[in-house]
Amino acid sequence: NKVVLAYSGGLDTSVIVPWLRENYGCEVVCFTADVGQGAIEMEGLEKKAKASGASQLVVKDLKEEFVSEYIFPCLRAGAVYERKYLLGTSMARPVIAKAMVDVAKEVGADAVAHGCTGKGNDQVRFELTFYALNPELKVVAPWREWDITGREDAIEYAKKHNVPVPVSKKSIYSRDRNLWHLSHEGDILEDPANEPKNDMYMMSVAPEDAPDEPEYLEIGIIAGVPVSINGRNLSAASLLAELNEIGGKHGIGRIDMVENRLVGMKSRGVYETPGGTIMAAAVRELESLTLDRETMQWKDILAHKYAELVYAGRWFDPLRQSMDAFMEKVTETTTGSVTLKLYKGSVNIASRKSPYSLYREDISSFENGEIYNQADAEGFIRLYGLPTRVRAMLKKGL
Ligand code: ARG
Ligand code: SIN
Repeated sequence: NKVVLAYSGGLDTSVIVPWLRENYGCEVVCFTADVGQGAIEMEGLEKKAKASGASQLVVKDLKEEFVSEYIFPCLRAGAVYERKYLLGTSMARPVIAKAMVDVAKEVGADAVAHGCTGKGNDQVRFELTFYALNPELKVVAPWREWDITGREDAIEYAKKHNVPVPVSKKSIYSRDRNLWHLSHEGDILEDPANEPKNDMYMMSVAPEDAPDEPEYLEIGIIAGVPVSINGRNLSAASLLAELNEIGGKHGIGRIDMVENRLVGMKSRGVYETPGGTIMAAAVRELESLTLDRETMQWKDILAHKYAELVYAGRWFDPLRQSMDAFMEKVTETTTGSVTLKLYKGSVNIASRKSPYSLYREDISSFENGEIYNQADAEGFIRLYGLPTRVRAMLKKGL
């Protein structure tokens, strides 16, 4: 039998390879998804995987798929978890896990394995995707089974099994990086009272170190999804990569929060989402022109639930998919452009335009117009305020 392992090349997944062979007696096929974690993390992976005892390494570039089929739907929905989190890790797990199911089929594997701990959200996201797409696959989660407890243990296990210990010095933080974001957890962050150190950040400068000159940026949007920067059309992934550069330079998109994990505990995390923060601000702003009050309210209510489903790993759940159909329909007119002014960590709105704008200067203007007759307001207020009036009358005994 054969197992496909979600492989990063770090110490943990390097140790999982010999552990799977020893404990399950199976051939290990390593799989690495390129979701934009960067060249350094992708370097020399095949050699490393084979040195750990894997029979082969399969690499798939999922960047465009990740951005256009996972990130953009969440962006269009306006999904934000617990007021702040833009779901960077949550969106990446289903695209990786789906690819693992495909690879398992391609190489004839009957099992899949991942290196998530038993305390986090990621294990749930991987495994719900496996369940949804191929319920016959056996799932192995070494962290929930083995007795390797820390880094020293893992190094010792690696040495005993002649597995080269990855040379790159492991950071003190637990990090997860992709095209959308970079997350930091662990070490001094575990005390929510500690401010993060500035040398922790990797995608953004501190707002106080950002340029003294603001930068204007025009984002073109079609149906709730960004398509261009300053009039230049770009692919989904290159658009995001470019906004990360610009946003990072201006210190945009740093989020520090304490969140509720699906498994019940609270956890403190710091996120860098420079490009995503810019995109989210632009799309949201355009909707102020294109959505009426009640539609916007319902969209926001559903966005809340949508974010929760994505956070909880229920990407392939019919509930999320149906809500996505709603989001697609409701953003049909979210088309136009928004000009932003980026300045020392903040995203300000300079201008918004849409061919589907519901804003009518001839109606909204202080000048008197044809369509809106001020005299109508009197009757409107009388009826609208009827319950208010009746309540007050009752109180007064009238
Ligand atoms: N708390 C975030 C989430 O659940 C980030 C998790 C980071 N994952 C990791 N393996 N370091 O989405
Ligand atoms: C992990 O525990 O594997 C990372 C953190 C998380 O999944 O929430």
